[in-house]
Amino acid sequence: MAVKITLAKDPAQTDAVLALRHKVFCEEEGVMDPVEDGRILDRFDAYSTTRNLVALNENEVIGSLRITLDSEIGIPADEYYDFRRFLPDGAITMNCGMYCVTKPFRGARIALSLILMATYYAVTHKVTHVVAPINPAISKLLSRVGFEVLDDEQLDPHMGLRFIPVLLDMKNINDFFYTFAENNRLYNFIESYECIFYNNDEYVVRAGEVGDSAFVIIEGEIEVRKAGTDTVLATMGQGEVFGELALLTDDVRTADVVARSDLRIMSLPKQAFLDHLMKNPDHAMWMLKSIGKRMKNMLVHPV
Ligand code: CMP
Repeated sequence: MAVKITLAKDPAQTDAVLALRHKVFCEEEGVMDPVEDGRILDRFDAYSTTRNLVALNENEVIGSLRITLDSEIGIPADEYYDFRRFLPDGAITMNCGMYCVTKPFRGARIALSLILMATYYAVTHKVTHVVAPINPAISKLLSRVGFEVLDDEQLDPHMGLRFIPVLLDMKNINDFFYTFAENNRLYNFIESYECIFYNNDEYVVRAGEVGDSAFVIIEGEIEVRKAGTDTVLATMGQGEVFGELALLTDDVRTADVVARSDLRIMSLPKQAFLDHLMKNPDHAMWMLKSIGKRMKNMLVHPV
């Protein structure tokens, strides 16, 4: 089943985040007392500096992470842990917290992707340091991305949650896609803040569907198959772009695309993709070359 990581876009999704916190913290983990309206929130949820990243299974919110940019009213952690003593003068700071994923979906993949998406949000908002009072269960994972542990496990007296304080200097970020996007000036893909996971053998695209996004592969492999058959037209891996033809031709998808391993892709909506090509002639050229190569391949090795 595909899982999508994206920013909560409407009140219904934000409400589902507040209800998910209640389900995870009060019902599954029992670390907080249940409240009558079944929602967990604090004043930072009302500020425009806060956004929620969500993990969606179909359309159900099964995971979330709150991100808050620093401002004159501060960040949530200010109330219970002094991260500021670790920050250099002039640091531009973002706070990640309220991490929760419902039991059946827990594991490294969703946790890491929520955190990575938070770092993509940070980079596009010129943040220099990300602080996170984070669930001890995932603090080790964060070191893979470049976060450093600042202290022993602590208790947030306000929420009653245990956490480990970790800090990411954005100069130390360790992520293939971030480096790839930076080297290839693919910021538009980062700014879509939308990544999707598939399991091996799942369909990513079906021929004949209306296409509204192009995709870049962050991790894993895909197979492009002739519509409705097992005939393989191409395989693609990390860093390669697919799903562009429907957008360029204003027509439906030309082929089936199937995951050939666990797959993580970033999606870019049609208009942002077309704008990206208009603004980056070298990328438009790159796209033309890749389409040219595919055509040549089909003419030389017809299937
Ligand atoms: P789109 O038609 O939007 O969706 C299916 C995608 O498969 C298509 O964009 C291309 O990115 C890719 N594709 C289709 N045909 C080929 C081919 N012959 N070789 C490589 N990739 C292809």
